[in-house]
Amino acid sequence: MAVQRTFSIIKPDATERNLTGAINAVIEKAGLRIIGQRRIQMTRAQAERFYAVHSARPFFGELVDFMISGPVVVQVLEAEDAITKYREVMGATNPADAAEGTIRKLFAKSIGENSVHGSDSAENAALEIAQFFSEADLTS
Ligand code: CMP
Repeated sequence: MAVQRTFSIIKPDATERNLTGAINAVIEKAGLRIIGQRRIQMTRAQAERFYAVHSARPFFGELVDFMISGPVVVQVLEAEDAITKYREVMGATNPADAAEGTIRKLFAKSIGENSVHGSDSAENAALEIAQFFSEADLTS
């Protein structure tokens, strides 16, 4: 598997509890390199675009409200097989199902306030990275 990039968000429940550094430590310990990172306040339009694939879900409104409730840290992570690797490091979407040592087991509060997002495919990673970063922002 070649070196690959994935997109990550440290969500408002985590920034609110000052957990950016603790989460980045888990990411880096797993061998993922943070090659771009920015702390932002997402607009409603940005969050609605980012989660457009979930717009028909009953939790969409709640999800968008949560993602704009405080600052987030958007990141690009690089590693061999980065997409799968980061999904393993994050753990299951619902922290009740997440394995020991994963970010969501360690830090997430609930299925909605679950501390981190990570891309689920190479196609989505490219789209998600392009929504928040230009190539000039990224340095391996
Ligand atoms: P994420 O990986 O960011 O992608 C979609 C998000 O929707 C997911 O993480 C969860 O935070 C959120 N989500 C999924 N299921 C639910 C649910 N039942 N209620 C609230 N939020 C949810």
